[in-house]
Amino acid sequence: MNRRQARRSTKKKHSKGLKAIVTVVLVLLIGLVVWVGINDWDVEKALERAGLSTPETESPIVTLPEKENTEVVKKTKPKNTPNPSEDTETSPTDEPTTPSDSEKPFDGGYVEGQKLPTKPTYFNEILLANKKYPLPTTFAPGENKDARAAFEEMSAEAKLSNFNLTAFSTYRSYDYQVTLYNRYADRDGAEAADRYSARPGYSEHQTGLAFDIGEVNHEKHWASSSFGETEAGKWLLANAHRYGFILRYPKNKEEVTGYMHEAWHYRYVGKPISEEIFKKNITLEEYLGVK
Ligand code: DAL
Ligand code: ZN
Repeated sequence: MNRRQARRSTKKKHSKGLKAIVTVVLVLLIGLVVWVGINDWDVEKALERAGLSTPETESPIVTLPEKENTEVVKKTKPKNTPNPSEDTETSPTDEPTTPSDSEKPFDGGYVEGQKLPTKPTYFNEILLANKKYPLPTTFAPGENKDARAAFEEMSAEAKLSNFNLTAFSTYRSYDYQVTLYNRYADRDGAEAADRYSARPGYSEHQTGLAFDIGEVNHEKHWASSSFGETEAGKWLLANAHRYGFILRYPKNKEEVTGYMHEAWHYRYVGKPISEEIFKKNITLEEYLGVK
């Protein structure tokens, strides 16, 4: 082979190599476009499914196959978990150092040193379970029959709009709440857990009147704020009161209810109370006049 032929042969090799690289890049690009397309052009979702980003913080990863009911185990801290540094805001020196009661930061809602009662608390025949009004450990009524009947009626109507509702957690015993709360507190710390999970004896689920609602086959929205953004979640928010249910922990009411917004947690209070609470856009605590 003379020098000219050798040069030509090297050139050919180079151009072959270049072609191979271009082909690989093209294949990768086409693959990427197809993958994003498969994921409804949702780049975040495509990355997430490819294992390249973390899913929504409140997304469930495991549903507990418990005898009593299931509760979604959340993967990481809830989005709204307070940043401790935000709590250390300094005030100007001429401001009073001890804030008045109304200025005090929200204390989480529990009464320090409170013991569980021997009887549940009713206001005008309405059973209340919150951070101030706990239940006896022995209080175990099971799932409320009227609430279940109302839920079935409501989900039958929802089905007409193609929403297949399910109540993925309803009655929970005191003991089961012990397991759940401890698990969340171990994972996120008690302060963060207290914002979305009731301590044993304080859960409305122990009354049998609380229904955590989601859509069948849409588990990723179960116990997630994203449920409120779904059409089913919006339908529920607009219609639950017609069946005796109220959204128990609405947005911006944490200081009243003690809990962060829970788009999935509904409480059966019966009609016409549910209608009144809905129309007035108030919480159960406000309706009952308790704090
Ligand atoms: N998630 C509600 C507050 C409960 O644990 O009862
Ligand atoms: Zn709930």
